[in-house]
Amino acid sequence: MMELKVKPVIASYDNFQQFAKSENICENDLIVTNHYVYEADMEMLHLPCPILFQEEYGFGEPTDSMLESIQKDFPKDIQRIIAVGGGTVLDISKLLSLKHWLPVRDLYDGKVPVEKDKKLILIPTTCGTGSEVTNVAVVTFALEKKKEGFVREELYAEQAVLIPQLLRTLPFNVFATTSVDALIHAIEAALSPHASETVRLFCYKAIEMIMNGYFQLREEGPAKRKQLYQDFLLASTYAGIASDNAGCGAVHALSYPLAVKFHVPHGEANYALFTGVMKNYMELKKDGEIEKINKFLASLLKCPVDLVYDQLEILLNQLLPKKALWRYGVKKSNLVEFTDSVMKTQQRLMSNNFVPLNREIVYKIYKELL
Ligand SMILES: NC(=O)c1ccc[n+]([C@@H]2O[C@H](COP(=O)([O-])OP(=O)(O)OC[C@H]3O[C@@H](n4cnc5c(N)ncnc54)[C@H](O)[C@@H]3O)[C@@H](O)[C@H]2O)c1
Ligand SMILES: [Fe+2]
Repeated sequence: MMELKVKPVIASYDNFQQFAKSENICENDLIVTNHYVYEADMEMLHLPCPILFQEEYGFGEPTDSMLESIQKDFPKDIQRIIAVGGGTVLDISKLLSLKHWLPVRDLYDGKVPVEKDKKLILIPTTCGTGSEVTNVAVVTFALEKKKEGFVREELYAEQAVLIPQLLRTLPFNVFATTSVDALIHAIEAALSPHASETVRLFCYKAIEMIMNGYFQLREEGPAKRKQLYQDFLLASTYAGIASDNAGCGAVHALSYPLAVKFHVPHGEANYALFTGVMKNYMELKKDGEIEKINKFLASLLKCPVDLVYDQLEILLNQLLPKKALWRYGVKKSNLVEFTDSVMKTQQRLMSNNFVPLNREIVYKIYKELL
């Protein structure tokens, strides 16, 4: 079993200016980012390279049509892409680092050769996806209403760069959804049958850092997060390393149809499914890694093990209230379609489940959460 693989070099800086100086940004670089990052941290540096603003090509998480409309504005002779943003900007940039990314459907179906022709530096401005250290790019195919991850060795960045200062503009709700996403990456990766003990070091450390951060927010209020961004960002990267090695599972798989059909942000959709999946795992198997995680969570929460998910929900609900699926607009009649979509299109994730989940159980989880 491979113990651990970390592909990009991971660097950290105090601010973007320090990074820009050290990397000697030039006219053959392309920065992919959002206006708020550019205005707060780059504009005053008068950088010599072109800038591509993701939101000018569509709002929300990555779609095939965003990638299609970027093509016409993509500058020539770019040798390196520097992506500065949330998972949306990072995942789009992974695909732009390829020689050909269109048609996106054909690329995802293996009909377009995957050739990397630009270097890639990924700088996260949220504390959730861990995309800076993974080789996955997740795209929603708008017409098919389907969210799909594309996994290729070529999608790894050369460098992941951590600059906690870039998170200072994060609205509280994005902080909440993305940090919960990171917590779920760490828990799903620890439970994966593909996790080695070395990978689990990253999982348990990330869980501890995120939970300790939440306890401090509970004591001192939401503004406290600004002093904790370094911890949350590092924890998110650790969870990314873990999920890159061991994979995410059913929580992510079952969240995709909800995210796509009802436009629910990635981390929030995961949270809507999280405890439902965990409770169903425990109905099938109580021992092994889940027992270890539950004990670990109980020790952090200072509660009896059998109350761990109730207590965790109380803690997380202060950041991100958990909603029943009907509150997003889901109806009982959607559940068969959701279940079919998971069973047909999310086997990449479902193969990492703590215990195999069949169609009946997937439907049961949705029904219990409705
Ligand atoms: N590739 C991977 O390994 C991986 C893993 C998990 C999730 N994802 C994908 O990542 C996407 C979600 O990424 P995300 O959760 O980071 O959210 P996001 O990138 O969609 O950002 C959410 C919102 O926050 C804004 N934002 C980001 N950083 C900000 C900052 N510093 N200040 C102010 N506003 C800021 C964005 O503009 C956006 O409006 C989804 O498409 C998901 O499927 C990818
Ligand atoms: Fe995620």
